[in-house]
This record gives sequence, structure tokens and C-alpha cells, in this order.
Amino acid sequence: MSQRIIIFDTTLRDGEQSLQIALNTKKKLRIALALEKLGVDVMEVGFPISSPEDFRSVQVIAKKIKNSLVCGLARCVDNDIDIAARALQVAKNFRIHIFLATSNLHIRSKLKKNFDQIVEMAVHSVKYARRYTDDVEFSCEDAGRTSINNLCRIVEATIAAGARTINIPDTVGYTTPLQFSKIITTLYERVLNIDEAVISVHCHDDLGMAVGNSVAAIQAGARQIEGTLNGIGERAGNTALEEVIMAIKVRSDLFDVHTNICHKEIYRTSKIVSKLCNMPISPNKAIVGSNAFSHSSGIHQDGMLKNRQNYEILTPESIGRMEGNSLNLTSRSGRAALKYYMRAMGYQDGDYDMDKLYNAFLKIADEKGQVFDYDLESLAFATSYEDTQDYFYLEDLNIQYSYIGGITTSIKLFCGNKTYMDTSAGINLLNAIHEVLTKITNISTVLKKCEFFIKNYDFTVFIKVNVTVEFEGRYFYGVSLSKDILESFVKSMINVLNSIRRTCQVKAKLHNELRKYN
Ligand code: KIV
Ligand code: ZN
Repeated sequence: MSQRIIIFDTTLRDGEQSLQIALNTKKKLRIALALEKLGVDVMEVGFPISSPEDFRSVQVIAKKIKNSLVCGLARCVDNDIDIAARALQVAKNFRIHIFLATSNLHIRSKLKKNFDQIVEMAVHSVKYARRYTDDVEFSCEDAGRTSINNLCRIVEATIAAGARTINIPDTVGYTTPLQFSKIITTLYERVLNIDEAVISVHCHDDLGMAVGNSVAAIQAGARQIEGTLNGIGERAGNTALEEVIMAIKVRSDLFDVHTNICHKEIYRTSKIVSKLCNMPISPNKAIVGSNAFSHSSGIHQDGMLKNRQNYEILTPESIGRMEGNSLNLTSRSGRAALKYYMRAMGYQDGDYDMDKLYNAFLKIADEKGQVFDYDLESLAFATSYEDTQDYFYLEDLNIQYSYIGGITTSIKLFCGNKTYMDTSAGINLLNAIHEVLTKITNISTVLKKCEFFIKNYDFTVFIKVNVTVEFEGRYFYGVSLSKDILESFVKSMINVLNSIRRTCQVKAKLHNELRKYN
């Protein structure tokens, strides 16, 4: 029968300790609630001795979380264990996780002890923690670089002392999958009481092998996986739990194991962690990256449209991603992708001339890089070259800023063949600019996202601004690059307004409507 892998999340401990700005209790609780909904079995939520704030957040979370086991970290020091137990005891059940370095390097240069003393300390601390709870986990810090004889000895001694979970961390991400699985196999072969504990692994990603090592450890018999959402954590991070969880699910042909995770919560939880921890997810990150379900090359796009399984081993829906997979419209796209988007927007094949559309598309894709569905729409139905050109241009921007008096923004915009000017006063600069542009163009948008990037070219700093706005239930994207941050924002907004106008003009033409701004 399929065995369960215990998912031990340490986003709020190992993950949190790597952040530049510590999370407050409120944010930690929000993450803990999301992790509970995701269905993690154990959540390590802090290191209570490390600070009064950590103590308090562990206490608050321990009180609130009912469906996951809450755990706190402690060194092999009586006072650490007392404090961890005090923070956790508001929960009905809790786990104390104690750790001690076991590699010669750490023992000699960090702890200044010998291995006999280490075993003695570990055994004492496990017994000491057992006075508070039956659920004690012991971690052999730097197990990846510990001699296998010493590792077997301390694992056997701490199980005998009462540890119910033994964690084998690759603290510095040094091992390789084959080597790491051999460590686990050897423990199973040589430790006499190994069946009295769950073997856990905790891998770091310094050589990019944390997930590979964790999966190899499962195949060697480990039954608890420690890690964090999005792989955040010390240095290069920890095992990305979402990757291990989906590997178990997608490759069920290889592993006779399962987890209790609610897979559809993965994407949402990942987003919450990224947002609250202020840790952006790389676009190409497995499972949760923005490109994880995007297809770019013409051959892939055509293959996807014929059968998703050609290039998709898991679906975005399976992890709760509602936007679905996407075909990037770039100069590498073929006609199949264009047809797909036109159909998605409600146009039949006979409604437009594919050859004309494809040629126009290639031209604009070369110029712009990425093309959006609304660009296709305007290209397909443009009756003249002018139809595809920009209508709005920035003529002048005047901003007066006073810390006490607020902000006055004036914009002069060239619209077709006339210039219009308007002004707005307010306390928020971006809002004021948005308001003036709305007044002049009569296009009412909701600003959804605005990203600023610094670019250095030939010792000159440029600011790239990406904006996303919503207009009549549809998203439009704008981009601009300027030496000045505000000019760049205004121009990226104008870029969006031009796209909206073109799209509306096409729609208006198609439906014989007249728009106000024409
Ligand atoms: O990486 C590590 O060794 C740890 C231990 C405290 C488990 O985080
Ligand atoms: Zn760690």
C-alpha cells in the first residue's frame, strides 16, 4: 500500500531567518494559515529562544493552528528547550525540534568538542525535551559531511533516548543524489532501532540539488521531507516543497508514496509566501514560476494545440493556477498560435486574412518583443497603416512637488492631431498622473500593477516601467524606458492607452460604433 510522506514545512523558520526584513507576527500567522490550508503535516514556525518576537509569534501560531502539528526549534541547551516548550504549550500537540552539529568540521571548529561529548549532549537533550512532549525530532546538523560511522552512532543513541523523528540535513547543500541516498540506505542497514523513528531529510540548495537529493532520499526510505514554499531559506535556499510534492504526484509510476497535500492550494500559498516575504519568484521556477506553463517556440505551440500532453506533464489547474497555460506571442510563434488567440477572442477563421495578419504580426513582434491578444485583434482588422500607429504622444509633463503642499501634475498630450492639457492635484503622484491621463483620454482604467527596474547602459541609468491596467474586464500591458522615473511611468501608461484605443477602435469599427475620443 502507498505510504505517506510527511511534509514538514520550515518556511517560517529556515525560510524566515533568511529574509532581509523579519516578518511580523501578523504576516507569519497569515502564512501559517495558508500552510494549514495547503495541508502540511508539520510546520516549524520559529526558534523561540532567538528573540521575544519569535517567541510571541510561535505562541500565537501554536494557539491558532489546529490541523497541522506546530513545531519550534531549539539547540541542545536546556533553556532553549524550556523556552520552546513554553511557547508551544498553548497547542494541544506540538513538536520540539532539537539540533546539534555532528560533522568533525563543525564539532571541532565551531563547538570545540569531541564526538563523545556531542552524543552525550544530544542524548541528554532528547530526554530533556521528552519531559514536555512525546514528539521530539533530533537533527544531525551537517549530516551530509558527517562520517557515516558517527552518523549511525548518534542516530541510534538519539532514537534510544526517545527521538521519534531523526532528521538528516544536508546543511550546506554539499551532497549529490546518489551519495545522499546511500547515506539513508546505510542508516537503514546499520542502525538497529531505525524502525522506531521516522527518517527525515532537510536539504539546502547550494549546488542546486536540494530537490534531487530529497527525492533520492524518498526512494531510499526517508518518510519526512523538510523544505519551504518557493525554496526560500538560508543562502541558496531549502528544498522547494511544491517541487517535491508535484514530483511525487506526477511520477507516481516511480514512487509508491503520497502526501496529504491539497494540491490545488499550492499556487495560492506560493503567491502568499512570495508577497509577504517580499521574495519574487523567478519566472522560470518549476511549478510556480510565471513561465512554468508558457510555451514559446512555434513547434511547441503547435504541439500543445494538438495535444496538451505533448509538452505538458502537469496542468496549471492541478496546482490551482487559474490563468491556465499560455502561448507566448513572439516572433517565434507560428500561425497555429495566432489562430488559437483569434478563436479565443471569438473570431472565426473566415473573419480575417491570416496571411495579412501573420505578416503584420511578425513585423510588430520584431519591434515589440512580446505581442498580446489585443495587438492581434487590431492588426487583423486595421484598414490602414495609421490604424496601427500610436495616437497619443507625450508633449509635456510638469510636476510640482511639495512635502507640505502636495503634488500638482500637468500633462500635455498630443491626441491624433490636437493637443490637450489637464491638471490634477493630490498627494499620491502615480494616482495624480493616472487621473490626468484619464481626464484627457476619457479612457478609464484601473491600475493593477506597476514595476520599476533599473537598467544600466554605457554608464547611464535608465528606468524601465511595466504597468498592467484593467479596462472593461480585460488586462492591458504597457512598458517604457526613460532616464527619468516619472517620465517612464507616464510613457508606459500612454503605451497602454494607445493599445486600448486601438483595440476599442477595432471593436467600434466592427460594431459600427463611434467612440468618444475619435
Ligand atoms: O540546515 C540545517 O541543518 C538546519 C537544522 C536546524 C535542521 O536548518
Ligand atoms: Zn536548514
